[in-house]
Amino acid sequence: MKVRRLTTVGAALAVTVLIGGTAASAVPNGAQFRPPADSLRALAQPTGLRIGTAVIPFDLDTDGYVQLVGDQFSVVTPGNEMKWQVVEPTQGSYDWTAADRLVSFAQAHGQLVRGHTLTWHNQLPNWLTAGVADGSISNDQLKSLLHKHIVDEMTHFKGKIWQWDVANEFFTDSNPSQINPNDFWVSHLGAGILGDVFRWAHAADPKALLFYNDYNIAGEDGTNAKSDAVYAWVKSQLAAGVPINGIGDQGHLDTQYGYPYSLQSNLQRFANLHLKVAITEADVRTFVTDAASQVPTDHLAEFAQPYEFEQMLKACLAVQACISFTFWGFGDADSWVPGFFKGEGYATIYDVNLNPKPVIQVLQQELRLAARAAPVR
Ligand code: G3I
Repeated sequence: MKVRRLTTVGAALAVTVLIGGTAASAVPNGAQFRPPADSLRALAQPTGLRIGTAVIPFDLDTDGYVQLVGDQFSVVTPGNEMKWQVVEPTQGSYDWTAADRLVSFAQAHGQLVRGHTLTWHNQLPNWLTAGVADGSISNDQLKSLLHKHIVDEMTHFKGKIWQWDVANEFFTDSNPSQINPNDFWVSHLGAGILGDVFRWAHAADPKALLFYNDYNIAGEDGTNAKSDAVYAWVKSQLAAGVPINGIGDQGHLDTQYGYPYSLQSNLQRFANLHLKVAITEADVRTFVTDAASQVPTDHLAEFAQPYEFEQMLKACLAVQACISFTFWGFGDADSWVPGFFKGEGYATIYDVNLNPKPVIQVLQQELRLAARAAPVR
């Protein structure tokens, strides 16, 4: 219990030293930014949990937005700007502008960075997918290009990224689940490519924490099939010496399905493999009147949305290896949900005008309580 009586300064130090053992290198100069005492990031600090958000670097020009990013969060993820399509729109010509801007912002505000994402079937550059489709890029060349992409991107950001999502969304949603044989990468290079990308990533930046990231892998689908498949796979990879450091559960919830009560035990069993875990893209969507105002249509949702966020945060807090809890954007106007799920929205913690929603107070209270009782990470 002595550990809970750490002073604020001591706790801050503990956070820097303890998380993944790499935080010091990921925050050059240890920024002196002081967030408000009732901010999510400050309230989480005694537990060592980093509270994060996906950021749209372009929006850092907007006053209300930029203030919230700096004040409320201690880790940031570029929502799109480290994806291959954005960083290498033309073959051989890199554009790091947006991602660099976010990394600089993070360093100035005492924040860590989650790199997202190096190997994914989606948001690939047109020159790559077109070349594969017309046969001008062979499978051998494709493998070399992926290796180069990982090495070049990780080298560019070397020492500045705390956690990298090295591989994203490779498993099927079926029951039983498996590595998707139709996935772009797997269909061309075989399932072994998953081990290769982690080996390449470790060689490129040995201090970064290397994550496998996916949705529905902590029981959100109600069957646990995908979680079981990822668990079996990661266990086999670790036994084979593949350098995987963590599992990211995206945490996209929907009030119509209820809260997945197995989420904590699923995080814990990954942790029991000596892995870090993280909630990487938390949001809780519900049916809304319209995409512009995003007012819930069901009164129960006004309770369910904060409740499910709170339970998910509580699950992460309870698992000592859960080192970060990242929201997939913090304002409803920027959320991916209305564009992807017809009729749904209200998925974030601030409304469409960036006013705080009731969920914020619930999360603040949860963090205050956790400061007394949650395991320190
Ligand atoms: O940048 C173009 C813009 O020029 C154009 O006018 C506009 C018209 O549609 O599109 C813009 O690109 C959009 C891009 O986001 C940037 O806003 C794409 O259409 C849109 O498809 C893309 O969506 C992103 C989505 O990944 C793609 O799958 C979301 O912003 C992003 O939040 C989302 O993030 C993913 C994670 O990476 C992985 N897990 C699931 C998560 C949610 O889908």
